[in-house]
Formats: sequence, C-alpha cells, structure tokens
Amino acid sequence: MGKHILILEGDGIGPEIVREARKVLDVINTKFDLGLTFENDHMGGCAIDAYGVPLADSTLEKARKADAILLGAVGGPKWDKLDRSIRPEKGLLKIRSQLGLYANLRPALLYPQLVDASSLKPEVVSGLDILIVRELAGGIYFGEPRGIRVLENGEREGYNTYKYSESEIIRIGRTAFEMARKRNGKVCSVDKANVLEATMLWREVMDTLHKEYPDVELSHMYVDNAAMQLVRAPKQFDVLVTGNMFGDILSDAAAMLTGSIGMLPSASLDKEGRGMYEPCHGSAPDIAGQGIANPLATILSVSMMLRYSLGYPQVADAIEVAVGKVLDQGYRTADIYTEGKTKVSTSQMGDAVVAALNA
Ligand code: IPM
Ligand code: MG
Repeated sequence: MGKHILILEGDGIGPEIVREARKVLDVINTKFDLGLTFENDHMGGCAIDAYGVPLADSTLEKARKADAILLGAVGGPKWDKLDRSIRPEKGLLKIRSQLGLYANLRPALLYPQLVDASSLKPEVVSGLDILIVRELAGGIYFGEPRGIRVLENGEREGYNTYKYSESEIIRIGRTAFEMARKRNGKVCSVDKANVLEATMLWREVMDTLHKEYPDVELSHMYVDNAAMQLVRAPKQFDVLVTGNMFGDILSDAAAMLTGSIGMLPSASLDKEGRGMYEPCHGSAPDIAGQGIANPLATILSVSMMLRYSLGYPQVADAIEVAVGKVLDQGYRTADIYTEGKTKVSTSQMGDAVVAALNA
C-alpha cells in the first residue's frame, strides 16, 4: 500500500505555494511509481471559516492516520481580532502537541547560487550548512499556568511558564546527537542557563546525555551569544539544539543567512519519525494572491518528507538536485532575485522544478 499524505494548504500564500509542491509530488509519484495518495483539509484561518475552529477534531483524526502531513502556512489579519483561544496559530500548536511532534528540524543551507542574495558577506555565509533542532511540543509555548489575569490593584498581568522535564530534554537531545552523527559531529546546545532554572536543568541533562554520544562534540552557548554568533560567524555551527521559543527566534535569523526565509523547509517529527512538513516562513498575507511567493521552501519540505517519513531518500535527493538546477538556470522569485537573473512567478518556479525533474 502506498503512503497517505494529508495536505493542509492553510492561509495567505499557503494555497499558492502548496499548489507548486503538489505539482512536484505528482511528478515524483508517477516517475518513481510511489503510489502515494493525497487528501486535503483545512487548518488555521480557513478552518475557522469552514468549521468555526482552527483545527477540527475530524482534521486531527485524518492527521493521526496519515503517514505525513504537508502544511502551507497559517494566519492572517482577517482572524487577528478573534479570541485568542481560536486564533489560527492555535491550530498549528494543537496539531504539534496532539501528534507529539517534538522534534523540529530546520536546516539552514545556503545554495551556492544564492550567495549574493544573503544580506551577509559571501565569505561569512558561503558553504553554510546548519541544522537547527528546535524542541516543538513543550517549553513556554505550552507551559501551564498561563494567561492574562487581573491583579489586586486592577491592572492586568500576562504570564507564561517556561518548563522542561528531564525526559523532554533527553528526547530532543537524542535527536540532535543522532543528527550530528550523520553530519559533522558537532552539537551546540543553546540555553539561558545563567538566568533561567529551566535551562540550567537543560544544560545539565545535555551534559549527562552526551556521555552516550562520546563521538559527538558538545558545546553550550547562551542564547544571546548564539544570536550574535549566527550573524557573526555562522559556519562555526553544525547542529544547534534548543527549546521551543529560542528555536523559533534563532531559526528565523538562520533563515536570513541563506538569502531568504523563502528557501527554508522544516520537518516536525514524532518519536516514530512520522511528521508534518512545512516551510519555515509564515502565511505572508501582504503578498498573498499575487503569485510572487517563493514555493521552494515548501518543495524542499516535500523532499524532507520523502527522506524522513516516507523512506525515499533517493527521491528526496532528486528533488534537491532539481532545485539546484533551477537555481543554476538563473530562475529567481522576487525574494531571492539579484541583478542579471530571471525573475519568475510562484507557478513558473514550480514548473521549472518539475521540468528539471523530468529532464
Ligand atoms: C514557526 C511559527 C509558529 C511558531 C507560529 C506561527 C505559531 O513562527 O513555526 O516558527 O511560533 O512556532
Ligand atoms: Mg517562527
């Protein structure tokens, strides 16, 4: 039986970029005879419109049964004023926690063709290949208690809880060490252990776990320094492992090193390696519907899906080679455009990848 994929286009540019990723999926499905089957549903703002909630139980059920999920992006100004319990982002957070997708892999890889698209000097970023391993199902994003309360003096106070248990730290630590083994053997664990107890424990547990991975080099860095090092000398990193909120922030910074966040895919995996795949960027409502969004992050997310959840690493390679070819040919969406290249639309970029796969 072929593997089954649930597609959630989401909001904003979601439908446009997923349409291009779907073209790629259809081509490889035929070309490599994979027998993949697909189903579409809603999550985020579009699900609020269709079902009244950002993630319906029936959608979550489909997600549980699927071998992998492809997600576009969620959110937009249309739903920003809703009560915070039903905002589009809640759907994303719910699916991550309900499916136990704790390991978020965000590779920041600079394609050599895009070295001029980065805002950093070519010598600082050329050859860049970092993997951010972000804990995705815990930390301050999910910690209880949380809320906005009224104090005795009548003013309101917002509060959240930053916590990590030892088992949560161990499982994400294992992901990082194992990934490093397949790469350049270095893990840098990012925390704020000079201030936050939760991350003091994080550092201690990482050190203990490291004894099981003596072949991997482990270093620690405070998050403020890590942010600085990412823009100062990013090539010092191989695998960066960190908690949910720090990972959210650092992965946006790392994305920009590669020229555009429009190039960055991600995988969110559970303990069995089943997962959800989405571009690192958001729904970009400001450019939605204009046909100018970069579909490559979503197309590369499909490649990660084939590699990590579906067991077709050679097909994943083929997609990555095709993306490289398209960049060699000079095709650029607006976000990665530099003088002398050929500016293309979202669908032209998707077609170019398809053509490269068929060549
Ligand atoms: C991300 C996004 C999400 C997050 C938002 C949309 C909830 O920024 O995937 O990085 O903060 O995790
Ligand atoms: Mg983010």
